[in-house]
Amino acid sequence: MEKIVSLCKRRGFIFPGSEIYGGLANSWDYGPLGIELKNNIKQLWWKRFVQERDDMVGIDTALIMNPKVWEASGHLKNFVDPLVECKKCHFIDRSDFLTARHFSGKAIVLPIDPEEQRKFLIKYKIKCSNCGAPAEELTIPKQFNLMLKTFLGPSDDVSSVVYFRPETAQGMFVNFKNVLDTARKTLPFGIAQIGKAFRNEITPGNFIFRTREFEQMEIEYFTRENDWEKHFEHWRIQIMDWIGELGADVKKIHEREVPENERAHYSKKTIDFDYEFPFGTNELYGLAYRTDFDLRNHEKISGQNLKYKDPKTGEEFWPHVIEPTWGVDRSVLMVLLEAYFEEKDRVVLKLSPKLAPYKVAVFPLLANKPELAKLARKIYDDLRKDFVVAWDDRGNIGKRYYSQDEIGTPWCVTVDFDSLKDKKVTVRDRDTMKQERVAIKELENYFKNKLNV
Ligand code: GAP
Repeated sequence: MEKIVSLCKRRGFIFPGSEIYGGLANSWDYGPLGIELKNNIKQLWWKRFVQERDDMVGIDTALIMNPKVWEASGHLKNFVDPLVECKKCHFIDRSDFLTARHFSGKAIVLPIDPEEQRKFLIKYKIKCSNCGAPAEELTIPKQFNLMLKTFLGPSDDVSSVVYFRPETAQGMFVNFKNVLDTARKTLPFGIAQIGKAFRNEITPGNFIFRTREFEQMEIEYFTRENDWEKHFEHWRIQIMDWIGELGADVKKIHEREVPENERAHYSKKTIDFDYEFPFGTNELYGLAYRTDFDLRNHEKISGQNLKYKDPKTGEEFWPHVIEPTWGVDRSVLMVLLEAYFEEKDRVVLKLSPKLAPYKVAVFPLLANKPELAKLARKIYDDLRKDFVVAWDDRGNIGKRYYSQDEIGTPWCVTVDFDSLKDKKVTVRDRDTMKQERVAIKELENYFKNKLNV
């Protein structure tokens, strides 16, 4: 992890947030290369799950919604984690995480009642993870709500309290009727959204793994109740295929059916897709059967009819929902971890070319030879019409190759003296390090073929 964090900072993938002011705990900013990588992941997802499918549409909804949304969704009441504070060192932790660490990740059912939970921590001699104080020194667990509050408008009294959304999902539920009326979809169909979500996490950490501001790619897939298992299975396979498409090793993914006491309040069945992160196996993505919980409650609280009307039979009902959900930042982290290799004398990110921030880098063999620089510049300008391309004319060619390897650029193009005569350039492959001569006029097609575009 330290190597990834340092590479991200050094090469402009991810910087500590607000760094010039000493940072802001667990906030991160994506730099020039990080945003390309993140956008490539999001575009690939959107193309695969929205544009290439007939049963999907996308939306983009507000980050701050009417507080009634969170009353109906159950988040104001149920979106809580158990918080304990050590009376000795004042370290704040989650009692469920403390327990999981104590039992080395084994599934342990923690009592819900705070007093019982405290007795449990004492019985199993679970200690403060910061100073090692015994469980007796921990406060009684308190149910801490993760909703991030702010005020909307020029007054800061209770009546103007609003919340940043903790999941993009509710944007899909509250727009269910709008989408139905305009997109004219019939069941089964899905609504997708990519966007930011906010949670006042008790224990953020592990770089971009758990932060208080993060991005999600979510689908609410609406179906008839009887069909939910079929669609649950479909999305289970889709999630695994997607992980393969990112170039990750699916053997490092462990599907875990979440026991009832750990499931979100809206879910009747949840599978977590856990990935072997260097700091432990932990949730990458999730898949939940949300039943008709959300539409039913929104209808109850809003008073609006949110039922689906069968076009053939006229029957009205709330569709049931399968929700596959993907964290964008966790995807970025997994992709970086999977791509990172140290070879003899180089560090290389073997990113899938579709995800690489730069697809190609162009170099003149010698920067101080104007005829080489001119031709290289022309190639660079031409390729940039179709691809994201890097330019480098510093140092020697070997160093430039290694510099591109470290940021995952799949191909480097070098313009040398022969290029002036034979109108060919050397194309060097990042993974095999093999070189071949390619005609300049063929370059565009050469890379299009390689990228399958
Ligand atoms: N709408 C369902 C939902 O929000 P979730 O399991 O709480 O489900 C979905 O979150 C995904 O969002 C997770 O699988 C994870 O990838 C990502 N995620 C959740 N909390 C996060 C956090 N604090 N920081 C970064 N990513 C997070």
